[in-house]
Amino acid sequence: MITLRLVPVLLAVLLLPLAPAGADPITDAEPVSSKPFGKIPKGEEVTLYTLTNKNGMSVSIMDYGATIVNLVVPDRDGKLEDIALGFDKLAPYLKNTSYFGATIGRYANRIAKGQFSIGRDSYQLTISDPPNSLHGGIKGFDKRMWKVEPVESEIPAVRFSRLSPDGEEGYPGNLYTTVTFSLSDENRLRIAYQATTDKTTIINLTNHTYFNLAGQGNGTILDQVLTLSAKSFLPVDATLIPTGEILSVEGTPWDFVTPTPIGAHLKEAGGKPVGFDHNYILKKGFFTRTAVAAVVEDPKSGRTLTLTTDQPGIQFYSGNFLEGTVIGKGGKPYRQYTGFCLEPQHYPDSPNQPSFPSVILRPGETYKTTSDYTFGAK
Ligand code: GLA
Repeated sequence: MITLRLVPVLLAVLLLPLAPAGADPITDAEPVSSKPFGKIPKGEEVTLYTLTNKNGMSVSIMDYGATIVNLVVPDRDGKLEDIALGFDKLAPYLKNTSYFGATIGRYANRIAKGQFSIGRDSYQLTISDPPNSLHGGIKGFDKRMWKVEPVESEIPAVRFSRLSPDGEEGYPGNLYTTVTFSLSDENRLRIAYQATTDKTTIINLTNHTYFNLAGQGNGTILDQVLTLSAKSFLPVDATLIPTGEILSVEGTPWDFVTPTPIGAHLKEAGGKPVGFDHNYILKKGFFTRTAVAAVVEDPKSGRTLTLTTDQPGIQFYSGNFLEGTVIGKGGKPYRQYTGFCLEPQHYPDSPNQPSFPSVILRPGETYKTTSDYTFGAK
């Protein structure tokens, strides 16, 4: 316990820059700070860690769900605003089912009927979105406490770890995972994941931040302009499981190869509820896998988001399930299309789709993936 409590202090000391005293409150901000953020019902204390850079950009992440709670980014006039949907307090995070800002595991998105096999062994996961298992089951990584770990980094960083026991939510193997968040002076938020197992298993980790580049609670994201480095996407059935086909985006409402407002063809995309909720295929050789996966620009504030990832896919979700019943930060109701998610990931239901890239992790291997979210203004 003592060690855990000391870690944020140690981090802050380790990373404290040689900042001149008494000047600008922005440059004087501690690069890593922490504060209590409430208690979970069992009584464990939740801590909110904040990474701040020299531009005053900051990201706050709590150890419950390794969840991004705040993401404060300058606009073209330098005005700082929180652009991540979420809550001011811990309590609504415990009940909410929208996965605001959370780390998603063990398997991001859906597995049909929660069933899959590895060799001769069949597994049944908990069903969290009937008839399917969504985002790691009923109590996925988003609803667990993570430990904070020491991290060596030249820029503000915080690392969380968690040992998911064999059989948790139906998944095989003891899975040890770390997620490291770091923030550079180039306004680049990096999320780096690692995992190892003692039994062959499946894995697909991502982050579920809902962005509104105009600021959370400031209207919809329909005018924000999206470019996706994807020529094809996965059509889904009525329960949002990929049909197995890979469709070209050309001439469809799913085409974001050139910059397009999110709302331009949203209604034509249909679905229940109406909107985008699809995995795009980031293909090597087109825009390469390690290159830019997505760019979003908000014409009003000038804020931009550039996302790069090593993942083979990205889920673009336009906040279709938000119904205005969720009251977010500052008392703002979150209605449909008031935030978008771009979730770098392997394809949904891969364990049941032999043609999709493998999501198998074996003992002795290390799962590693990194995604960068870089913010700008124009
Ligand atoms: C993901 C899914 C959506 C929805 C949200 C959470 O992005 O693809 O269908 O379940 O999470 O509401």
